[in-house]
Amino acid sequence: MKTVLSGIQPSGLLTIGNYIGAIKNFVQLQNEYNCYFMVVDLHAITVAQEPEALREASESVAALYLAAGLDPSKANIFLQSHVPQHAELGWIMTTLASMGELERMTQFKDKSAGKENVGAGLFVYPALMAADILLYNADLVPVGDDQKQHLELTRDLAARFNHRFGDYFTQPDPFIPEVGARIMSLDDGTKKMSKSNPNTGSYIALLDPPDVIRKKISRATTDSGREVQYDPANKPEVSNLMTIYSQFSGMTLAEVASKFEGQMYGGFKKELAEVVVAGLEPMQQRYHDIRKSGEVRDILRQGAQNAQAKAENILAEVKQRMGFLPAS
Ligand code: TYM
Repeated sequence: MKTVLSGIQPSGLLTIGNYIGAIKNFVQLQNEYNCYFMVVDLHAITVAQEPEALREASESVAALYLAAGLDPSKANIFLQSHVPQHAELGWIMTTLASMGELERMTQFKDKSAGKENVGAGLFVYPALMAADILLYNADLVPVGDDQKQHLELTRDLAARFNHRFGDYFTQPDPFIPEVGARIMSLDDGTKKMSKSNPNTGSYIALLDPPDVIRKKISRATTDSGREVQYDPANKPEVSNLMTIYSQFSGMTLAEVASKFEGQMYGGFKKELAEVVVAGLEPMQQRYHDIRKSGEVRDILRQGAQNAQAKAENILAEVKQRMGFLPAS
């Protein structure tokens, strides 16, 4: 059976971009594959985190996984820091990566642009991500479009290891949705929707209450013109809203386009808000129930135990091939 792995950082509030680009696919893939879904807390600390906020966000992302439909009897759900082999293979991958490769990563360029004090962790971040994936010899990695370059680097590092130490790592393939791989910001159709945007009106958080969702959608920037048409090149903002509609309604983009053909933005936005609210409300209810039940910690403990069993074996083989003396 093929292995699937992915992760989300516990930094800020998860958005509908994270849901559409990633979590929704995790939920589908768990039925067919051997799955590992992490909360990547070691990645989150590449920018400064308040300890209490990190603890809260880590448990919250795990609870959102469950609320969105991930089932611990089908998928391993765990925190990256609970499986220490991630950090160890992360170091090994750092030694295989070159400065030039890491400098070319657009996420690093974006996150470090204009900053005087850029943490070294932010720079070597993709080597840790490669370790996450290779530690389970994952075949498929469901992610949004912005992670594609990191996946390519992972493939290069796997090939480099295999070339030097003998064929061992699987070349992982990205699993990127055809529609919704890049949900754009509500205030600017040229920027990705992001949980770290200081303008909270630019994204819809998965835990936003219905009235907040309605307000954010009604205020979303729309392109000049007045008619609802899917045309990403000329009407990026309306096209983005149509993509969101399609993802929450289960309709194809063509169906959405024909449903709203000739209609004005205002009416469309009202219907969009109701579709998003109807999609998120049950998830929010489940989220609050799960948090109250206190079950998250146990699920994470079990998930980490299962993950560690596999990670230990793979790391032992990697170290043996590289020439580390065994401890016993
Ligand atoms: P992160 O935490 O930034 O985002 C989590 C996932 O959500 C997707 N995503 C989006 N998809 C569509 N539209 C958007 N606006 C949008 N914003 C975010 C991301 O593509 C991602 O799939 N480096 C990763 C975390 C990571 C990881 C891994 C992923 C660490 N180790 C191993 C896969 C495998 C990240 O920062 O994602």
